[in-house]
Amino acid sequence: MNVLDRLETTLRVRGGHRLSGSVETHGAKNAALPIMAAALLAKSPVTLHRIPNITDVSVMRQLLEALGARLRSEGPGTLTIDPSNLSSYRAPYTLVRKLAASFDLVGPLLGVFGRAEVPLPGGCVLGTRATDLHEHAFRALGAEVSNAHGYLIATAVARRLRGGEVAFRQPSVGATKNALLAAVVADGTTTLRNVAMEPEVVDLANFLVAMGARVRGHGGDTIVVEGVPELHGVEYEIIADRIVSGTLLLSGCATRGDVTVERCVPEHLALTLAKLSECGVKVTSGTDWIRAEAERITGGTDILTAPHPGFPTDLQPPMLSFLCTCPGISTVEETIFNARFSYVNELARMGADVRVAIENNTALIKGGAPLSGAPVEAPDIRAGAALVVAGLAAQGETEIIGLEYVDRGYERLEEMLSALGGQVQRSSGISPVVEPLGTFETTAYPSLAARGPSA
Ligand code: EPU
Repeated sequence: MNVLDRLETTLRVRGGHRLSGSVETHGAKNAALPIMAAALLAKSPVTLHRIPNITDVSVMRQLLEALGARLRSEGPGTLTIDPSNLSSYRAPYTLVRKLAASFDLVGPLLGVFGRAEVPLPGGCVLGTRATDLHEHAFRALGAEVSNAHGYLIATAVARRLRGGEVAFRQPSVGATKNALLAAVVADGTTTLRNVAMEPEVVDLANFLVAMGARVRGHGGDTIVVEGVPELHGVEYEIIADRIVSGTLLLSGCATRGDVTVERCVPEHLALTLAKLSECGVKVTSGTDWIRAEAERITGGTDILTAPHPGFPTDLQPPMLSFLCTCPGISTVEETIFNARFSYVNELARMGADVRVAIENNTALIKGGAPLSGAPVEAPDIRAGAALVVAGLAAQGETEIIGLEYVDRGYERLEEMLSALGGQVQRSSGISPVVEPLGTFETTAYPSLAARGPSA
């Protein structure tokens, strides 16, 4: 099996089959990645549970090892990180280029070494990946920050960072996480204002608290951190992935199915569920499950992506695919990323009637006409999910190229959908997760670098 064979692995979706039944969601990628980075701050080993077996986690794992941490998997979803022999504050570009979330390492490295050198994320298919908000926070905490030769270099002026006041001009998930990660071991109190309130930020804060950090206010718009000299190891379970949960529900809805997602957090998807109800989906939920019955769709709806608790930008693409199946006009306005509609051209190849007004980042969807299967290409993780949702609803077969993107954020998506009665297969039968979490080869996907990381 050579690299080209792997690159051509595709997902074949035979549409027109109604999904029904129950499926369990997996741990959240966007919580697992910063929590793995945060483990570097501990003085003793950290054991994490419900770590998703996806390629982004594998890249983060390799990054932590490159910095000197020792990692071992102890069964599915469990990962122990021993940071006691950290030896480097410089993250290698060869790995960072595959994962925009590598930037989460700046805060922990500053906390451990008083210095961090991490390649700048630059741009990606979703749009600009600016770092000004991160830099603003590091400076407010007493670091000198510069950009040199493609790297962000941050150095604590004193031996430790010192607490400070940080007011973000806009909420940023990444900058909130990095500021929090740097502040927990800084000297004194830090106040972070206008922070991101995403569940993954809250999970990171809860993890830090479990390690002995003093953090309050997470989940609201202001977080207060009292720095402590050191953090200790802990055992911790990652929250459910709300984007995977939402994708599974939307997959069911697009086929007019009846799908229950288990081991999820309904509250994390409150607005998404309300929007599904507006389209005529009967939504019911319990403590840790959501059921979406979509036999009687009445129409579409209007979506505006926004920071949490607004509509999640990561569900925008699969939601748009579902809206293509709903009769009438729907609109989707993207306010988080400036280039997140590129997959719409692929949907058009499947017969979708979607017009994108670039000037106001808004898509107008004329829904209800049947979609037809076609060969299409996924440009990023969630766009890949959108093409799967459309393929499930379409007549005939859809072959999706760019499966390596889907595998970055979804653990065996085809298996979860098959359990619901979907006809979804990897064309070559190669699974990206056949090896244990510890040894899986992410370097088999060179096109990640070619197109840039998107998460
Ligand atoms: N921004 C700035 N300056 C900054 C930081 C961000 O202008 O210093 C801008 C960005 O350019 C972007 C917007 O603010 O336009 C949002 O960025 P944010 O920092 O909130 O997002 P992120 O941390 O880069 C995370 C997720 C994304 C998710 C967004 C929004 C991870 C690893 N990634 O990105 O997830 O879309 O928050 O919720 O947590 C995905 O999983 O597919 C994915 C793209």
